[in-house]
Amino acid sequence: MAASVPLRGALDAVAAWPPDAAVDASGRRPVAVIDPIDPVAERRLAYHCEVVHPDDADPASLRAAIAEAHGIIVRTTPLPRAVLEAGQALRVIAKHGTGVDSIDTAYATQRGIVVARTSGANAAAVAEFALTAILVACKPMLAAAEWLRRGSSSAPLVVAAERAGFIGCELSEIAVGVVGWGAIGRRVGTSIVLLGGSVVVYDPVACGSPDAPGVRFAQDLPTLLREVDVVTVHVPLTAETRSLIGAPELAMMRPGGALVNTSRGGVVDEAALAEAIVSGQLRTAAVDVFECEPPDPESRLLQLREVLCTPHIAGSTRATLRRMGDATVDAVLDVLGDTEPSDVANPDVLAVAGLLRRETGARPTSEAARSARAAAD
Ligand SMILES: NC(=O)c1ccc[n+]([C@@H]2O[C@H](COP(=O)([O-])OP(=O)(O)OC[C@H]3O[C@@H](n4cnc5c(N)ncnc54)[C@H](O)[C@@H]3O)[C@@H](O)[C@H]2O)c1
Repeated sequence: MAASVPLRGALDAVAAWPPDAAVDASGRRPVAVIDPIDPVAERRLAYHCEVVHPDDADPASLRAAIAEAHGIIVRTTPLPRAVLEAGQALRVIAKHGTGVDSIDTAYATQRGIVVARTSGANAAAVAEFALTAILVACKPMLAAAEWLRRGSSSAPLVVAAERAGFIGCELSEIAVGVVGWGAIGRRVGTSIVLLGGSVVVYDPVACGSPDAPGVRFAQDLPTLLREVDVVTVHVPLTAETRSLIGAPELAMMRPGGALVNTSRGGVVDEAALAEAIVSGQLRTAAVDVFECEPPDPESRLLQLREVLCTPHIAGSTRATLRRMGDATVDAVLDVLGDTEPSDVANPDVLAVAGLLRRETGARPTSEAARSARAAAD
């Protein structure tokens, strides 16, 4: 959700521009690439800017790089106010991904720093990952493979396996609840409908705008939870969505159901989820994101065989990494070239930048700027 802007602070930040900050010998402005991005995209950035790689594990190195940087490219390293305060020349933070919960966007807005992101660039990857997890929840593939590996089978094999309980279900037998009807949730929901499943959606913004046949919108989250067998979560982590799925919500789900979380760890209460699995209220879960990353190896969720835990890789495909690398580089070059990037997480900051541009003439578009850069690259 966009932060409201203390307009005065943002105007002050703009009035102070251009900052008196370091540039390299050829006049290129420093950009801190905090987490690794696609090497081809980074080479393109290096053509235009001085690329700096701080050690994100070392706060002093991070602060030193940010102190000089005009732009930052970041994946998951947190950027709280205490870190951003070091960046007096900073104009843009390009988030490699969609969720900006790890960045103090309110402070960035106040300082006139654009926070850009790459919405949609990873939607296909995450949606396919969630869909896979839903299908794995319907088919006892992992447990059956383990059973076979242990040599527990006897002839006839299929009968022994069915007797051992390895009988799956088809999507047409269940209802899937999609929480969050954005770029990822829509892909998951429409794919399930195409495969014959029924889908119930809850999204307070998209509610009432059904745009996919076979999809039904629930009035509220409890209604969705009571009507589905599998819940898949695709909301950003905000103050409103923190612990959106806790013990009361898990108790509302049909007994023996499944939960898939590829959104953010804080959206689902991990202790409550573990308890729901242990009690049998839920049969299985797939969790790609954790409240604290990396998760404690002793965490209860990691110990449970019924929970398929993965290390925040839902969006990690070669094509996605390339797209997101390119998008972050474009966002940095757009802002440093006085152009509005295509996907801004704190749009209030642009109103201030727009006022500045109206006074100085035409407002360039990011498409025009990219074409010019492509010709120069
Ligand atoms: N695991 C990964 O690797 C990975 C990768 C990409 C994104 N993500 C996460 O997935 C989230 C969703 O991504 P997206 O691209 O679909 O975002 P999006 O912004 O396109 O969609 C989010 C949707 O959630 C809805 N929403 C907000 N609050 C809600 C609430 N309380 N209840 C129900 N719906 C609510 C919004 O209205 C919006 O439609 C991201 O914010 C990010 O945290 C994870």
